[in-house]
Amino acid sequence: EKGGFDHFMLKEIFEQPITIADSLRGRLVLNEDRIILSGIDAIKDKLMAARRIIIVACGTSWHAGLVAEYVIEELCRINVEVEYASEFRYRNPIVDADDVIIAISQSGETADTLVALERAKQQGATIFGIVNVVGSSIARISHAGCYTHAGPEIGVASTKAYTAQLAVLMLLALKVAKEKGTISAERFTELSQELNNIPEKVQWVLDNEVDNIKAIAFKYKDAHDVLYLGRGYNFPTALEGALKLKEISYIHAEGYPAAEMKHGPIALVDDQLPVVFIASKDAYHEKIVSNIQEIKARKGKVISVVSEGDEITPSISDDVMFVPVVDEVIAPLLTVVPLQLLSYYIGVYRGLDVDKPRNLAKSVTVE
Ligand code: F6R
Repeated sequence: EKGGFDHFMLKEIFEQPITIADSLRGRLVLNEDRIILSGIDAIKDKLMAARRIIIVACGTSWHAGLVAEYVIEELCRINVEVEYASEFRYRNPIVDADDVIIAISQSGETADTLVALERAKQQGATIFGIVNVVGSSIARISHAGCYTHAGPEIGVASTKAYTAQLAVLMLLALKVAKEKGTISAERFTELSQELNNIPEKVQWVLDNEVDNIKAIAFKYKDAHDVLYLGRGYNFPTALEGALKLKEISYIHAEGYPAAEMKHGPIALVDDQLPVVFIASKDAYHEKIVSNIQEIKARKGKVISVVSEGDEITPSISDDVMFVPVVDEVIAPLLTVVPLQLLSYYIGVYRGLDVDKPRNLAKSVTVE
């Protein structure tokens, strides 16, 4: 049942080229420059006219929401807010009929997300669900939605469900941007191609980087704390990398926007602290290089996720994990993969039950 893999988590990480392709299949129609998301049709007018989009989710799904905030604001020019379902449901939020709520959930059964949606629905909001489990509670209370096609996710730590969520959110952003006219025809084609190429780029990481990542995992398996830093589209990737490490290895980890570091967390840096930088080539690359130099100046150990062909970042890092060159908007679908593998192997080297980390349940149906 684990298909020859030692754990479901590893199997699910390796399934991602297929599950991402499955989530794009029939939806991304490259030769016609078109995206078909029939789930949107029922609420299309609301979505086009939306004054704002509120994304409601928990945990890893909330990280997918954060990526979507960057992508939807950039491509569609719609104001996006991303809310922890547990906070949103208790704070008497301002929601009205012009708001579209996007709920993101792998299980479709997360209690906090479900109740938050029920409340928002009562207040007149339109609910769009991005859910993996077909027929689940969140799928059923949504006005419309779009399933992720990740297949059953057994490992408690979410991996392939996350990248499937990102794939669907990218499709949604591209489709809305095209319909609203907020993206040029060239950029639409370019990003569609990039999205289409993601499965093979993820496969490249799985084919070429695993031995390297194992060695890095072995080297840092006894760390007490790890900092994850990223900027822009890869800031949520830093949060997700840190969450994966906490869950799987029980090592304390924090994700931060790289520039926030100097407002506090830099005090943690000494020659014992590993700092993971998500430093794939993007518009902020020079900035992240200077953030790396700030850590090196304080003798921190730098592990960087870098784009193939980048020579500067590896020269100032202690360890590097390569990914193929990718457009910055689509990058989160790719840059998270080495971080999933790093957490997995650190957990394994620490002798832990990576498929069933202590204290965690696959779906959190109590608040
Ligand atoms: C992390 C993880 C959790 C879930 C969260 C939401 O690896 O699995 O943080 O992402 O409990 O679950 P869903 O997406 O089922 O609503």
